[in-house]
Amino acid sequence: MSEAVTYGRYLKIDELLSLQQPRDEVEHDEMLFIVIHQVYELWFKEVLHEMDYCGRLLADGDAPRAQHTLKRILTILKVMVSQLDILETMTPTEFLTFRERLESASGFQSDQFRQFEFALGRKSRASVERFPEGSRARAALEDRWGRPTLWDAVLGYLAQKGYAVPADLLERDVTAPVEASERLQAVLIELYRSDPVHVELCERLVDLDEGVQEWRYRHVKMVERTIGSKSGTGGSAGSAYLWSTLNRPLFPDLWEIRAAL
Ligand code: HEM
Repeated sequence: MSEAVTYGRYLKIDELLSLQQPRDEVEHDEMLFIVIHQVYELWFKEVLHEMDYCGRLLADGDAPRAQHTLKRILTILKVMVSQLDILETMTPTEFLTFRERLESASGFQSDQFRQFEFALGRKSRASVERFPEGSRARAALEDRWGRPTLWDAVLGYLAQKGYAVPADLLERDVTAPVEASERLQAVLIELYRSDPVHVELCERLVDLDEGVQEWRYRHVKMVERTIGSKSGTGGSAGSAYLWSTLNRPLFPDLWEIRAAL
């Protein structure tokens, strides 16, 4: 007979609590570092789960539930941004007690973060090929590489609702970066002037775009206060590299149209 369901068995608490394994005898602050990264990975997992659902809802023409799902993603993103406060309680010298143990390990190698970027329309072959063939990470990124992004799902949805989304955008190569389109902007300007229901959907995408940039900004400030101008364990120039990833909107058309409204 199978054992009764309990909190511990359902949530696999024993397994979960056995996963925080410092490389050596634990340095006090290393526990926080491990836990916070693992928590982020769990949030990435949940966000990806919701992003996929949102794409399916848009394909089915169900905007209310898609918007509800976006709201959940945005709420998680806010928590993800605010969690950086916890890490900022760690001083530069506390970080140095275990930094060497990280060797070349870095958040730069988080495949789920790259999956999130892919789902948002920022794809790069280098991010796929960084992971060995046959690995879970490689398979997940290869799968997302060819899939439509959130932006593609929104454009498909708007076309379903009768908006004259240019055909070349509906058939675009989903592995290519999302480029601004003046023809689409004309459609969006009309939508913003006359369709308050769909304005709400578009505004949730702007929230998402701003939220991701907010995370990047808070992360680079945390990096600056923790390691200053040192290079990263992942081999980049550190904060100089991270600054270069900021101010690159995910959905450029939604920003461009504001000047014309
Ligand atoms: C003391 C804490 C942290 C420091 C000093 C730090 C430092 C850095 C540095 C220097 C980079 C640039 C790549 C490199 O050369 O390593 C980077 C990238 C990154 N870090 Fe952190 N990080 C910290 C915490 C976190 C946390 C908690 C997360 C959550 C998952 C995270 C996620 C990322 C991601 C996703 C990137 C890649 C960003 C991109 O390429 O756009 N980091 N980090």
